[in-house]
Amino acid sequence: MIILDGKRTAQTIRSELKARVDLATANGSRSPGLCVINVGENKASLTYVRNKTLAAQEVGIRAETCQLNAETPEDVLLAKISELNHRHDIDAMLVQLPLPAHISASKCLLAIDPAKDVDGFHPENAGRLTLGMPGIKPCTPIGIMELLRRYNLSLQGSKACVVGRSNLVGKPLALLLAEPLEFANATVTLCHSKTRNLANECRQADFLFLAMGQPKFITREYVKEGAVVIDVGINHTKDGLCGDADFEALKPIVKAITPVPGGVGPMTVAMLLQNTISVWEKNMHKRGA
Ligand code: GUN
Repeated sequence: MIILDGKRTAQTIRSELKARVDLATANGSRSPGLCVINVGENKASLTYVRNKTLAAQEVGIRAETCQLNAETPEDVLLAKISELNHRHDIDAMLVQLPLPAHISASKCLLAIDPAKDVDGFHPENAGRLTLGMPGIKPCTPIGIMELLRRYNLSLQGSKACVVGRSNLVGKPLALLLAEPLEFANATVTLCHSKTRNLANECRQADFLFLAMGQPKFITREYVKEGAVVIDVGINHTKDGLCGDADFEALKPIVKAITPVPGGVGPMTVAMLLQNTISVWEKNMHKRGA
């Protein structure tokens, strides 16, 4: 049984990314610029934003946080996005979700320049992913693919089951798993809250991806012996942080499993840095600077 160590893998990726930034800046390039926008005081969001900003700075990205108060009007946020779209020293930005109820998230995501949209949430990037065109892909799904690739766990021709159909994780992950690529080519089932006999669907899977946000919901009866379980759940319970899988119950029967914390979460942050650096490299190439 393998515990897929996302924390260690993400550290390796971060040092590879730092080397890319160090080399280019030593040759005279300006450093990559990222702005993370957060509106309001959602506790989880504040933690995520701080983690992302610190991780970015560690690899040599100039990371700014734009913290706006919870009452910020939508047009003020849109004006901030527009300002960042026009700034040449900012390669990348993201708006942390969720946003307060009076702000339309889809309107804000649509306002971000798709070339700077390192979360890959802009409809243009989502569309490109759907059509198999090049574009910026969302961090959690590509982090999962990268983790599997680095552990040499091939999906080729296997049965994959994704539980959860969110725009941030489930939907884009299902698309990536089915891409006609060496490290994909899975046969994908996308399950959700209305799926009839969820356990039956999950038990078919060689690779089971959990992104439904139900603490320890997935027990042994949902998992085929020898399956690979990727747990995207981050659930805060009175007993602390846990995933959607009952980790201890599954450990004896799976081929591999991600822990929570220390599995998918750190990979998401590493992929945000990777997306930022890829955009910056493209910009440096364009300008020859
Ligand atoms: N909220 C939860 N996950 C994410 C994420 O990956 N990006 C943003 N912007 N907001 C989130």
